[in-house]
Amino acid sequence: MALSEPLFKRVAVIGLGLIGGSLASAIRRHGLAGKVVGTDQREEELQLGKRLGVIDEAAATVAEAVKGADLVVLAVPVRATRAVLEEVRSCLEPGAVLTDVGSTKSSFVADVEAVFGSLSPLVIPGHPIAGSEKSGIRAADPALFANHKVILTPPDNVSEPHLDRLRALWEGCGATVLTMSVAYHDEVLAATSHLPHLIAFSLVDTLAGEDENMDIFRYAAGGFRDFTRIAASDPVMWHDIFLSNREAVLRGIDHFTHDLEQLRTAIANQDSATLLRVFSRAKAAREHFSKMLSGQAYVTNNSEKQVTFRLRPGGAMSGDIRVPGDKSMSHRSIMLGALADGVTEVKGFLEGEDSLATLQAFRDMGVMIEGPDDGFVRIHGVGMNGLQAPRGPLYLGNSGTAMRLFSGLLAAQPFDSELTGDASLSGRPMGRVADPLRAMGAVIETADGGRPPLKIRGGQRLTGIHYEMPVASAQVKSCLLLAGLYADGSTSVTEPAPTRDHTERMLAGFGYHVHRDGATASVSGGGRLTATAIDVPADISSAAFFLVAASIAPGSDLTLRHVGMNPTRVGVINILQQMGASIEVLEEREIGGEPVADLRVRSAELKGIDIPEDQVPLAIDEFPVLFIAATCASGRTVLRGAEELRVKESDRIQVMADGLAALGVETTVTPDGIVIEGGQAIGGGTVKSHGDHRIAMAFAVASLRATADITVTDCANVATSFPGFVELAGATGINISAEGAD
Ligand code: S3P
Repeated sequence: MALSEPLFKRVAVIGLGLIGGSLASAIRRHGLAGKVVGTDQREEELQLGKRLGVIDEAAATVAEAVKGADLVVLAVPVRATRAVLEEVRSCLEPGAVLTDVGSTKSSFVADVEAVFGSLSPLVIPGHPIAGSEKSGIRAADPALFANHKVILTPPDNVSEPHLDRLRALWEGCGATVLTMSVAYHDEVLAATSHLPHLIAFSLVDTLAGEDENMDIFRYAAGGFRDFTRIAASDPVMWHDIFLSNREAVLRGIDHFTHDLEQLRTAIANQDSATLLRVFSRAKAAREHFSKMLSGQAYVTNNSEKQVTFRLRPGGAMSGDIRVPGDKSMSHRSIMLGALADGVTEVKGFLEGEDSLATLQAFRDMGVMIEGPDDGFVRIHGVGMNGLQAPRGPLYLGNSGTAMRLFSGLLAAQPFDSELTGDASLSGRPMGRVADPLRAMGAVIETADGGRPPLKIRGGQRLTGIHYEMPVASAQVKSCLLLAGLYADGSTSVTEPAPTRDHTERMLAGFGYHVHRDGATASVSGGGRLTATAIDVPADISSAAFFLVAASIAPGSDLTLRHVGMNPTRVGVINILQQMGASIEVLEEREIGGEPVADLRVRSAELKGIDIPEDQVPLAIDEFPVLFIAATCASGRTVLRGAEELRVKESDRIQVMADGLAALGVETTVTPDGIVIEGGQAIGGGTVKSHGDHRIAMAFAVASLRATADITVTDCANVATSFPGFVELAGATGINISAEGAD
């Protein structure tokens, strides 16, 4: 689609190889510039570029191309940059943006500084992560950048409007644009691209030098072919890259050689534990590569993974189902299992992104964990003092629980650690854990306003404290109890209202005594955990969507199996029953220290209520869907004392009110709650979930009583707590489909 006003008037592309040529033709195809002028030392390539329509105009010299251009793109080999910049200097227009497409960024910046004396706010280095086995202008492909990443490394004083225009140009070519610092870019690329190429070149060369090399290649199978494919890349280009990213590549080589040496020693000593640990950690990392490692390797960009729910109105719920495992217990099973002596086996583990982030983080700290395989996980505990320093920041995705509980655990380790997360998690308050941990002696740095990332200094001696929690938070309580396991003396936490007690129960299950005295839980430091078996029940917070769905959709009859019924979690059932829901609690039993039951739900006429404040912490994650129940009830529902909802994965009061408003439902938002007049018609429309899993699922449920189609955007994070939600909701009666899902 051509834009009415092009982003740049005249773009000069210097160097018409594959990347320069592809960019020129993409700019032309999408009408992103008034004119694209190309130049290349190779006369034939230049003329070919003109003839093939890759460029509008062929310039005989760099000066001729650059004159009058408001964007100059250097697409020449990295080692030629300085000489070309010398030619650019005298004719660069004062307001022109200068960028490049090279694979290393510090060398480009150094060249610019050498030639121009300083880095102007209009110099914005770039690196498209795209390529092809082919080279030269004939291979130029206007679609080369579609669905690929482009990294821009703007200087601190960059001119924002110019950065925006350059970003828009790449996006106009179909790319996703990320920004990061020059140093980080070069470090990341050294590790993820340059080092693998070096190893491939080296391995093939080593083998080719063996006497029997022909035979070796004859017998080499698929593994060798896959591993060494990149050794067929352009030697001159790679020579240039290694020399221009010398420092970062050297660090990568040293790190790798050190680790390879460790594997050598492990093989020499027949040290199976080390081999298995390294291999299973690598296998898991490879499997979660796109999800988890992308968060570590590049600044995460939520817009990369766009999932949209499309819902048709109406439907009735029926079936006999089991929703995935409890998220809170899944996190804790990995944490305590990792720190225990012996092997812990977990059944029913939630294979959602949040608990997988916890699992991955422990692998990053040297714990061998098998699975998950259909909810089964085997954790080879390393004991209270067996964790190893992670190599980099621990990336915890969307998970507030992981970050808060980890901060307690890591505060007492002998090594430093850093906890990072996605955009939503990066905006959530961590002072609530950092402050009391500091009072215990921990050294923790947060970003502004007590937000992530958390930088935790290792080697601190912690001392037990008594802490009166200002907010009723199970995460804060758990964080302090976990830190208390390592602290001198006793650590006690008093809660202003009961919150989920899975940490206390599970610690007891691992043989660690937790003292309970009314609203206070305490532990004494210095004990040990003993491995155990854990059966994680279905998550009542996930079941909640189906409890409300079957209640509000006429003609429904649905059974939910093996639902966790811990008294600190059943607020949603209490509230729905007070509203008149028909929920039968069947087969109550206790499994592994946690009460469990089957629930049969049938549709009912709901009525609005004043939600008792003591139920708020017991139903804290269920309010988004309870707001839907309130909308379908007759009469008014009032929620108070729930300001905590504003600091969940989104501001759940405001985001729900906005979503309901988009469907024509009026509500009154208060600082600590909401008033919903029931009986309003739910219309059709588009709801923004703000990347909050529970908001997305709540509006999927709302469709059962809607009068028209509903679209819910930004739903990828449903996978954090409820993998398979769309399939299960569809199978039981919600008319749902997901666009953009994997
Ligand atoms: C959780 C505690 C709650 C809850 C969260 C899980 C836990 O958070 O909202 O989803 O596993 O401890 P708060 O402690 O912030 O209330």
